[in-house]
Amino acid sequence: MESLRFVLPQSEIPTHWYNVAADLPSPPLPPLGPDGKPATPEQMGVIFPMAILEQEMSTERWIPIPQEVREIYRLWRPSPLVRAARLEAMLGTPAKIYYKYEGVSPAGSHKPNTAVPQAYYNRQAGIRRIATETGAGQWGCSLALACQMFGIEARVYMVKVSYEQKPYRRSMMRAWGAEIFASPSAMTQTGREALARDPDHPGSLGLAISEAVEEAASRADTNYALGSVLNHVILHQTIIGQEAKKQFEMADDWPDVVFAPCGGGSSFGGMAFPFFADNAAGGRNGKPVRLVAVEPASCPSLTRGKYAYDYGDSSGFTPMMKMFTLGHDFTPPGIHAGGLRYHGASPLVSQLYREGLIEAVAVPQLATFEAGVTFARAEGVIPAPESCHAIRAAIDEALRCKQTGEPRTLLFNLTGHGHFDMSSYDRYFAGELEDFEYPREAIEESLRHLPDFA
Ligand SMILES: Cc1ncc(COP(=O)(O)O)c(C=O)c1O
Repeated sequence: MESLRFVLPQSEIPTHWYNVAADLPSPPLPPLGPDGKPATPEQMGVIFPMAILEQEMSTERWIPIPQEVREIYRLWRPSPLVRAARLEAMLGTPAKIYYKYEGVSPAGSHKPNTAVPQAYYNRQAGIRRIATETGAGQWGCSLALACQMFGIEARVYMVKVSYEQKPYRRSMMRAWGAEIFASPSAMTQTGREALARDPDHPGSLGLAISEAVEEAASRADTNYALGSVLNHVILHQTIIGQEAKKQFEMADDWPDVVFAPCGGGSSFGGMAFPFFADNAAGGRNGKPVRLVAVEPASCPSLTRGKYAYDYGDSSGFTPMMKMFTLGHDFTPPGIHAGGLRYHGASPLVSQLYREGLIEAVAVPQLATFEAGVTFARAEGVIPAPESCHAIRAAIDEALRCKQTGEPRTLLFNLTGHGHFDMSSYDRYFAGELEDFEYPREAIEESLRHLPDFA
């Protein structure tokens, strides 16, 4: 029987993270402080430990992974690479389809890959409390888990709609010892102001970030952690692509196209950047791998946003970052891929997209659930709604191969399972989900509020 699963021994857990900043054609643009000047480590040090800030600014190609972090990675890594042969047969495509399954982590997604090192560096710096936000609950769970492992108190501001829709994500965070607040909350000035404006405010990721940053900035014992967007987060995720490359060698194959869902950009960067390293060096066997970020049509920061300096949160507490953005006060519609409802895309992903070195596509919600159900029926795994975006794009490519007869090799990042998203699947089955294309005027309106340094 032909092998379908490519599993590396634990000795192959990467020893270094890959830093794409070393291979960019032009240096990354710095984050800016409120005065429009590059934000200083002292300003950012109020909420981040110095080791993380060094990684954020580093242009070293390889950064060693601390042994203690690798020891924890052993609990679920290396994650499997799987050939989706049953999906190929179901589609009748000559394409070969592989997926890298990150849902094997205890929290059920790729997010612990960065939560663990972030908790580790904070603990090294003597921090005992971390505040963060969570949209869909994947990041909150991952940080709760990682903080538990390092004896840190985790405080999670969870976007109110998700808090109400996903009670079991809350239970998981509690099981790992975290405290959870529905955002907007009465705990912070930002939350109180939002509630005064609208007592039924549904919350947004940008607002929850503002609450967590406010708490971290106002207490010396508390730091802040972010689950995507920033350079160090993407750096930590590059173990995904590094493992995938070794697994393709085991399979004696190599991808022509790589897909990943793109919210803040960490699962895309984590998977795609190690392949980009080969592209930057002329491509393996002289042939570049196409790298495709897949975003929701209802929150299309790369495909319809503006490349500009903007804040990472809705209140403007974070430094300004040069990125593709829909505007920091853009409120995405309540689509069911909560982890993709973010107004911007990581500065590193944005820069590569701007320079034409990676591609992006936007897909509508209903088509993503259809792809997720097709995948579940062929391969068994029920994917997270965020991951369904990459599956949609991979299936579309496989169907194009069917038309042209090209036997391309496709890889996608199956970033998480959907076990806590079944109410969204139920709504899809009941015909209650809708597609939503954001009107151009609404995007233009929120882009009018970009900061002056845009
Ligand atoms: C399962 C899953 N995939 C993808 C994402 C998107 O985030 P990012 O773009 O940082 O990978 C999320 C975010 O919460 C997620 O939970």
